[in-house]
Amino acid sequence: MQILIIGTGYVGLVTGACFAEMGHHVTCLDIDEAKIKALQEGVIPIFEPGLEELVKRNSTAGRLSFTTKYSSPGEVCFLAVPTPESADGSANLSYLKTAVEQLASVMTGPSILVNKSTVPVGTAAQVTRWVADCLERRGVSFSYDVVSNPEFLKEGDAISDFMKPDRIIIGTDNEHSAELMRELYAPFNLNHERIIWMDALSAEMTKYAANAMLATRISFMNELSALCEKLGADITEVRKGIGSDRRIGSNFLYPGCGYGGSCFPKDIKALKQTAKSQGLSLSILEAVDAVNQEQKKLLFKKIKAYFGELKGKTIALWGLSFKPGTDDMREATSLVLIEELSKAGAHLRLFDPVSMDKAKKLIEQPVVWCQDELEASKGADAIVLVTEWKQFRFIDFAEVKKQMNHLAFFDGRNQYNPETMRADGFYYYSIGRR
Ligand SMILES: NC(=O)c1ccc[n+]([C@@H]2O[C@H](COP(=O)([O-])OP(=O)(O)OC[C@H]3O[C@@H](n4cnc5c(N)ncnc54)[C@H](O)[C@@H]3O)[C@@H](O)[C@H]2O)c1
Repeated sequence: MQILIIGTGYVGLVTGACFAEMGHHVTCLDIDEAKIKALQEGVIPIFEPGLEELVKRNSTAGRLSFTTKYSSPGEVCFLAVPTPESADGSANLSYLKTAVEQLASVMTGPSILVNKSTVPVGTAAQVTRWVADCLERRGVSFSYDVVSNPEFLKEGDAISDFMKPDRIIIGTDNEHSAELMRELYAPFNLNHERIIWMDALSAEMTKYAANAMLATRISFMNELSALCEKLGADITEVRKGIGSDRRIGSNFLYPGCGYGGSCFPKDIKALKQTAKSQGLSLSILEAVDAVNQEQKKLLFKKIKAYFGELKGKTIALWGLSFKPGTDDMREATSLVLIEELSKAGAHLRLFDPVSMDKAKKLIEQPVVWCQDELEASKGADAIVLVTEWKQFRFIDFAEVKKQMNHLAFFDGRNQYNPETMRADGFYYYSIGRR
């Protein structure tokens, strides 16, 4: 099948590369000329494990190509453009509208438009109207359909999530579109039936509901962590205790220093705005969002409480991206911490295994960029683990201690054993543990 993908970011590029791997002929389109030029030269603009190999193999085989020029989509076109937060918290659909109008202005025949961007309920119908208006202005008429196919991949595991999805949600009531989608996803659906069919409105809602539930679990655990700390209980034990209940399950119950990324924060706000537009208030999600905003300040509060005065203190940050496995810095907790620590007069030494280039474009404060965690620790009064990259799991703390000026350690991801760290001489603080 000939597939056009509009938007070549984390979702679009992974989708394109995975469909190409299954033998389809995929063109990935983006308005970012530098990104497309890089991809044409074999340079992958984002870090995603396994993606480089996949893109190179399929480009070389002639199944995957990149362009900045809109052309008629052919049988099927995926939309994977950003839907960021507007000033009022709602999803900004201007990128989607522009992309759809650009596409409709060059369409020369029937096509199926599949929306992978996370969009408010009712957007498939809106896209249908945008296309209709554009075709009408052009004085042409083709049959087309708009399908909702929200994406559930996780950055850092995107390839395996796409290749072996927990589920494939397809929102359509058009039989021809359903047939095409079944064919397209057949290679990802061999082991057992993964497709869940529904109407487009429910498919759009499912994506928001999934992210809202996951964010709720995190904020729930973060809020309980604070109570555990006050009472002397240990949230790690509590997690095991409640996770063993099959109705609860132990996944996604890890407390930490707040969720970030390009999805949860904006999707929670967008869903709240959708509810508001319907005269409803989602009070659970109001709380989830509020708890998270406070949680992102927690590490700073702990560091400040420990030192009192931060002016002149040297603080090392291990990890900057919003989670391990990705270079994505969108809404990363590190950004909040860096801002607060800088304002308080601390000297910062930063290291992340993959997101330093992206971080350098976002962090304007004077900081020292380091080659590795050991270099970051030089002269540090405290180390803060912000992102739990695997390479931080087994650290030669004897070496780290030799570099440090004072042995304070703030573990934002509960990676280390408090007893061992304290036995090693650290003043060790984590989240919700004794
Ligand atoms: N990143 C994730 O983990 C993830 C997971 C599931 C769903 N989503 C959703 O998927 C959508 C895309 O997210 P992303 O993280 O891939 O975004 P991204 O910012 O990484 O990529 C989007 C790309 O679209 C391009 N673009 C913008 N306007 C365009 C236009 N008119 N024509 C062509 N290209 C255009 C941008 O240049 C950019 O390269 C969002 O709605 C997001 O919420 C993201």
